[in-house]
Amino acid sequence: MFSKTIIEPFRIKSVEPIRWTTREQRENLLRAAHCNLFLLSADDVLIDLLTDSGTGAMSTHQWAGVMEGDESYAGSRSFVHFKRSIQDIFGYTHVIPTHQGRAAERILFTVMCKKGDVVPNNTHFDTTRANVEFVGAEAVDLQIPEARHPETVLPFKGNMDVAALEELIARVGRERIPLVMLTVTNNSGGGQPVSMENAKAVAGVCHKHGIPLYFDACRFAENAYFIKLRERGYAGKTPKQIAQEMFALGDGCTMSAKKDGMANIGGFLCTNDEILARQEQNLLILTEGYPTYGGLAGRDLEAVAIGLQESLEEDYLRYRIASTAYLGNHISEHGVPIVQPPGGHAIYIDAKAFLPHIPADQFPGVALATELYLEGGIRSVEIGSLMFAEAAQMELVRLAIPRRVYTQSHIDYVVEIILRVWERRSRIRGMRLTYQAPFLRHFTAHLEPIG
Ligand code: F0G
Repeated sequence: MFSKTIIEPFRIKSVEPIRWTTREQRENLLRAAHCNLFLLSADDVLIDLLTDSGTGAMSTHQWAGVMEGDESYAGSRSFVHFKRSIQDIFGYTHVIPTHQGRAAERILFTVMCKKGDVVPNNTHFDTTRANVEFVGAEAVDLQIPEARHPETVLPFKGNMDVAALEELIARVGRERIPLVMLTVTNNSGGGQPVSMENAKAVAGVCHKHGIPLYFDACRFAENAYFIKLRERGYAGKTPKQIAQEMFALGDGCTMSAKKDGMANIGGFLCTNDEILARQEQNLLILTEGYPTYGGLAGRDLEAVAIGLQESLEEDYLRYRIASTAYLGNHISEHGVPIVQPPGGHAIYIDAKAFLPHIPADQFPGVALATELYLEGGIRSVEIGSLMFAEAAQMELVRLAIPRRVYTQSHIDYVVEIILRVWERRSRIRGMRLTYQAPFLRHFTAHLEPIG
C-alpha cells in the first residue's frame, strides 16, 4: 500500500528561487500589465500555472544526456537514441523530429489535407485547429456530449463520440476525410483521458472506411495511467504496455515533447506510410531542418529520448495524477466548481459558476484569474470568452501543473489562495476590454475592472 501523504518521487538537486511580492506591488504590476497575465514578467509570478508545456524540470539523467548530445548536422548519434526511444513506445516506422508539436501539425496537415477536407478529432487543441484551417480544411470536434457539462463525472470524459464519427463520414463522404485524430489526453476538454475501448472503436470505424488514424499524443503517459487505474483489464499492465497497445491502433502521431516528453522544447511526427514520410521529410528540410535533427539541437534529442521513458515510470505517474487530483478535490470539497473529474495535467475552475453575477461579456474567467494573482501571485489562464469570443462554450480558468516542479506544499498554498478568493467571490467585479488585436486577442488584450 502507498501512504496517504503524496510525496514527490525525487530529491531536489538544483533549485530556482521564486519571488514574493506584496499585494500592493501586485496591484501595480497588474495595472501595468493591463490586467492580462500574459503581459506580466514571469519574475513577478510566485506560482506559475499558465501551462504545463515546456515548463517541466529535467532529471539528472536528462541533463547527463544533454552533455552527451551529438551536434552533428547529419546522422547524429542523438537522433538514433531519439528514434529508438520513440519506436520503443510508439512503434511507428518513420520518426520525424520537429521543434514542437505545432510544427509536426503543420507538416502533417500540409501533406495530408487540402481545401474542402474535413478532419474529425475528439477535441482539437487550438494550434491543431488553426493548422487544419490554415490549409483550408475544416476541423470538427466530436467529443462525447457529456464532455460539455463540467460537473458530470465520467472515467473517460475525453472519449470521441463514435456514432457522431460514423454519421460525419456518411454525411461528408470518406473521400473528404484524409485522417481522423484522437487527442490523448483531451486537453481542451479538461485534460480528460480516452479509454482503450474508445480508441479501439474509433480505430475500427477508421479501418472499416480505410481512413488513417493519428494520435495527438502530447499527454499519452498520463492517459495510459488513467487507463491502468480506471479501465477493466489494465490494472496489471505497465503504462508503457498500455501506450504501446494504444499506438498500435493508429497509423501515426503528432507529439509535443514539451508535455509528456519531459523536455523544455521538442516534438515529432510519426507515420507508417513510406510515401507520406518522404513528403514530410522534404517539407521538414524546407523549414525545420535536416531529417536527423528537425528543429532541434542534438542535446534536445537526448533530453526527449530519456524524458519519454521517464514519463512512463509508475512512481512518477502515481504522484503526478494524485497531485493534480489533490488540488481539484480539495477546492471542490469546499464548493469551488471545477470540471469533474480532475484531469491529468490541470484543474479547470468553472468561472461561470464561481462568479454567477458576472455575465460572459464581462469575462468572468479573466476576473477570476486576476484575483488569483492579486491574492497570492498565482498565474493561471482564462479559457473562455476572451480566448474564443462568441465561440466560447464554457468560462474556464485553467491551472496547469508543470511536471516535477512544484512540491506538495506549493499545491497546498494554491488551495489556500483559491479558497480565500472563493470566500469573497461576491465582491469580484467583471472586466471590460480596452484594446484587442484582430486575432488570438487573449495574448495581448488590455482590460480593466468595471466600476
Ligand atoms: N496538442 C495539444 C493537445 C496541446 O495541448 C498542445 C499544446 C499542442 C498540440 C501544441 O504543441 O505547444 O508544442 O506546439 N499545448 C500547450 C498548452 C501550449 O498550454 O496546453 P506545442
